[in-house]
Amino acid sequence: MVKSKVVCGFLGLFVYMVLSELLFLDYLQKMFQSPKKKNIEISRRNYMYESYTDAPLTKGQKKEVIPLCPITSPLLRGPINLTFPSELTFAKVEQKYPQVELGGRYRPHDCQARHRTAIIIPHRDRELHLKFLLYYLHPFLQRQQLDYSIYVIHQAGNYTFNKARLMNAGVREAMQEREWECLFFHDVDLIPIDDRNNYVCGSNPTHVAIAINKFGYKLPYDAYFGGVTAFTPLQYSKINGFPNNYWGWGCEDDDIGLRVYLAKMRVLRPSLEVGRYNMIRHRHDKGNTVNRLRSKYLVKAPENWKRDGLNKDMYEVISRERLPLYTNITVNVGTPAGLHPPP
Ligand SMILES: *[C@@H]1O[C@H](CO)[C@@H](O)[C@H](O)[C@H]1NC(C)=O
Ligand SMILES: *[C@@H]1O[C@H](CO)[C@@H](O)[C@H](O)[C@H]1NC(C)=O
Ligand SMILES: *[C@@H]1O[C@H](CO)[C@@H](O)[C@H](O)[C@H]1NC(C)=O
Repeated sequence: MVKSKVVCGFLGLFVYMVLSELLFLDYLQKMFQSPKKKNIEISRRNYMYESYTDAPLTKGQKKEVIPLCPITSPLLRGPINLTFPSELTFAKVEQKYPQVELGGRYRPHDCQARHRTAIIIPHRDRELHLKFLLYYLHPFLQRQQLDYSIYVIHQAGNYTFNKARLMNAGVREAMQEREWECLFFHDVDLIPIDDRNNYVCGSNPTHVAIAINKFGYKLPYDAYFGGVTAFTPLQYSKINGFPNNYWGWGCEDDDIGLRVYLAKMRVLRPSLEVGRYNMIRHRHDKGNTVNRLRSKYLVKAPENWKRDGLNKDMYEVISRERLPLYTNITVNVGTPAGLHPPP
């Protein structure tokens, strides 16, 4: 897996190099052109998600005036050591965090959170990992004094896993519930081990899972953009969301990294000391076989990114369930033949 990751990375690097050359030529050309009026910024009005407001106050509830939370949370602890108690169950995790509201929501009550973050976790057949992730992620986010919700986007059926499609679905569904400021895309098997790794968005898309134990706590290659990443809804729409055509394991994260670059944004990262994660070990799942077409798609990313992504509606919701620790949104993402292939 590490090896194919690196192959993917080299390929990504190659595509980046070709692109930077092209962009450089483009830039040179522009230097000698008279300035054109261009509309680069996507205005708030064009933006597909608007006017979602917070839930109205319930009867008898007063709008309280509480101070904003401090810029740096006083609850942070820095690095922690993980343990994976074998007797842990979802019920026990639930008991441990009674302050989490139905649907996996939380906000601090003694101060007003400065940030609203949605956590989007693509999922299938990984309950064991999910349980441990929730066990560590809830207190992690609470110590950061965030106003957050955790969405698990569950792929229905047995057809090959399509993580990027699930994440696109997660964005739409989460934004329909609330106007989130920041979207965190989170692999289910990665546990953050330093709470100074703030789950908030920045002026550019952010890659936070930069120091994973599997890769010796450093980046496997410069362009690596996998594991856990964050976009504001606007940044996400600027890259036209994620590609819909990656089935199975591999390269969709490099494609997303390329999109950031193609949309002329940069990638922000925390320090290696803080962006640390432990990966829960597992075998390659069935239903998530290595995508043999992955490098072919990656090379095509520059021509595909505007055509395929958020602009295509490639899923249907099968169920939505607010559970104590998370919201389970189960979606059908279909197959390459479409959402409803002929029987
Ligand atoms: C984590 O484990 C290391 C090595 O065993 C130890 O030095 C350190 O104090 C531990 N940290 C915490 C927060 O328990
Ligand atoms: C998925 O596979 C399982 C076992 O292989 C089977 O029982 C189930 O009916 C399948 N589900 C669908 C939607 O095909
Ligand atoms: C989410 O809901 C679906 C449909 O009810 C269910 O099959 C699946 O196991 C659930 N997944 C999780 C992680 O709760």
